[in-house]
Parts: sequence; C-alpha cells; structure tokens
Amino acid sequence: MQRQLFADAAGSGDAGADQLRLTRVPLAPEIRLYLAEDPTLLWARLEAAAGRRLPPPFWASAWAGGQALARYLFDHPEVVAGRRVLDLASGSGLVAIAAAMAGAATVAANDIDPYATTAISLNAIANEVRVTITRDDLLDEGLVDVDVVLAGDALYSGELAAQVLPFLSRHTDQGVRVLVGDPGRGHCTVDRLEPVARYRRATLGVAEDSLIDRVQVLAMSPRP
Ligand SMILES: C[S@@+](CC[C@H](N)C(=O)[O-])C[C@H]1O[C@@H](n2cnc3c(N)ncnc32)[C@H](O)[C@@H]1O
Repeated sequence: MQRQLFADAAGSGDAGADQLRLTRVPLAPEIRLYLAEDPTLLWARLEAAAGRRLPPPFWASAWAGGQALARYLFDHPEVVAGRRVLDLASGSGLVAIAAAMAGAATVAANDIDPYATTAISLNAIANEVRVTITRDDLLDEGLVDVDVVLAGDALYSGELAAQVLPFLSRHTDQGVRVLVGDPGRGHCTVDRLEPVARYRRATLGVAEDSLIDRVQVLAMSPRP
C-alpha cells in the first residue's frame, strides 16, 4: 500500500501527482533522494489517497541535521568504514545511505513511519547501496548491537529528544560511537555532546527551516 502511494506520489499515478523528484542533497550532492517540492501538498495528497490522517512526510525532505551528518561521513569515512551502523530516525534514509557509501560493513536504517521505510528502500536503490530497514520503535529497548549510532535531526521536538537522548547515552556508555546532526533546535540538552564539525550553507533542510543556515555534527562522550 505505502509502496503504491509512494509510486503515485512520484508521478506514476494520481495520488500525489508528481510530488516527488529525485534531487541532489545540497550539502551531500553525492546522494540523490526522492524529495518533495512542496511537502505540505504531498501530505494532503497522500492523506486524501489513504483516506485517513497520516504523520507529516518527514521522509520527503533532507533535514539540516541529516545533511550535516552525511557530509561529515563523506569527509571522515573512517568513522563508519568496516563498522556496523544504525541510522536512528532515518526519514528518507539520507544518513544511512551516506554511511553505506562511506564503507560501513552493515547499515540498519530505523524509522517508525511506514512511508519512511518505503522511501528508504527506494532511495537506497536509487543510490545503489544496501541498507537493512527496521520499523520497530527501538527507543525503549536496551541496546542495539552496533558499533556506531547516527541520529540526523532526531532531536526535532522536546518530546522525541526526551526519548532519543537516553537511548544515545546508553549506547555511548557501552562504547558505541554516537554522532548527532543538529541545527540547534534547542533540544540538545546533554552536556556530553561536543561539536566535531560545523557547516554553513543556504537552502539547508525543509522550507520551515528557511532561516537555518548553520548546522553542527556533535559527538557524545561517555559519562566520566
Ligand atoms: C526530522 S526527521 C529526520 C530524518 C532524517 N534523519 C534526516 O535528517 O533527513 C525525523 C524522523 O524521525 C522519525 N521518528 C519519530 N519518532 C521515531 C522513533 N520513535 N523511532 C524512530 N524514528 C522516529 C520520524 O518518522 C522522522 O522520519
């Protein structure tokens, strides 16, 4: 069902009528993603086609935090090369795809939105990389058995940050490398997050973020 609606949104039917375009990511032009020119219109069309309320199509934008993380991985492939990586709150799959292209041994992309998991699958194919996709909510679980956890713009609301930050802390404390991409939305409340890179560029992220032109990659350090 999601796959069909997604295909419709990409123009092969009438649900979203050409709302998605295979687009180069501004800060990581190595990657092309199916992105919406007008996410609000896409959202309305998908809801009309599904006949029910849906979450916003966050998967149809390349968020500023994800763009920064993807750029960082291309510039520092040693962070993920040969390692098992989890991309939490993957959305379009942007960060997962960057990790795979940078040489990760395995990449798991996790998002609870079924439309996102369809998008990740089609975006991975478009970029010719292999990514395992999971839709379980991992945030209440103990630990995921990986070497690196990446979270691009996963701190976009206080509510989600309150779940994501403890998940990231648990992993950091067990020796997992944790990197966060965040444009300063004000929910990065853990003082163990230190900037490792800063990027500045116009046209970062979604339309609502039009005033954002700076974004950081932060590394979490273990509790002393
Ligand atoms: C702002 S988008 C960021 C997407 C992508 N990382 C990027 O930077 O472009 C946040 C994503 O978090 C996902 N999300 C929300 N709650 C989640 C949860 N409990 N577990 C996994 N993903 C979640 C949403 O579905 C959405 O796709």
